[in-house]
Amino acid sequence: MTTGQLKIGIILGSTRQGRVSPQVGEWVKQIADKRGDAQYEIVDIADYKLPFLGEGTGQEPGIANWNAKLNSLDGFVFIVQEYNHSITGVLKNAIDSAREAWNNKAAGIVSYGSTGGARAAEHLRGILGELLVADVRVHPTLSLFTDFENFSVFKPAELHLTNVNAMLDQLVAWSGALKTLR
Ligand SMILES: Cc1cc2nc3c(=O)[nH]c(=O)nc-3n(C[C@H](O)[C@H](O)[C@H](O)COP(=O)(O)O)c2cc1C
Repeated sequence: MTTGQLKIGIILGSTRQGRVSPQVGEWVKQIADKRGDAQYEIVDIADYKLPFLGEGTGQEPGIANWNAKLNSLDGFVFIVQEYNHSITGVLKNAIDSAREAWNNKAAGIVSYGSTGGARAAEHLRGILGELLVADVRVHPTLSLFTDFENFSVFKPAELHLTNVNAMLDQLVAWSGALKTLR
């Protein structure tokens, strides 16, 4: 690993008790780590104990730590789960809890739900545009019915491997290109 490597955060979008997002995030990280083209890490929103935006003092250490983590990253993979046809409130709050730290970076999306989390992912794309995050086209969509056992044990179909790598190809290329802009 070289010091000049890109840093990509794999952001877990859910924090609920019993969530499956850590399984999906670890799977993406295992695929990513085999590539050797960037430094990949899991970023768990739950670790930051972010208050709802505007409800605290604004001085909570989690807010500064969250912004510092995002500042250290060149790109993101969002692990997105569909809640009421959109992203989780927790992910939206985490996105709202930073601004410049997102700007001029790239993102890929891996989503899941009854229809592959597609509706949530499309909502996220609209949000990312406002934050100057360039979201790549390839988007692995996982089905709660066929890629999970009992909706809780992640057993992804083989075909998703190709899509995850294609998404990472685009993400690494754009993360590198946008670094020159910052
Ligand atoms: C509040 C809530 C709303 C949900 N709404 C949807 C939905 O609109 N579409 C869908 O496909 N799945 C929906 N689901 C199912 C979730 O996608 C599924 O439970 C998934 O495992 C949640 O991700 P997580 O385990 O990482 O929290 C919903 C789940 C919850 C808890």
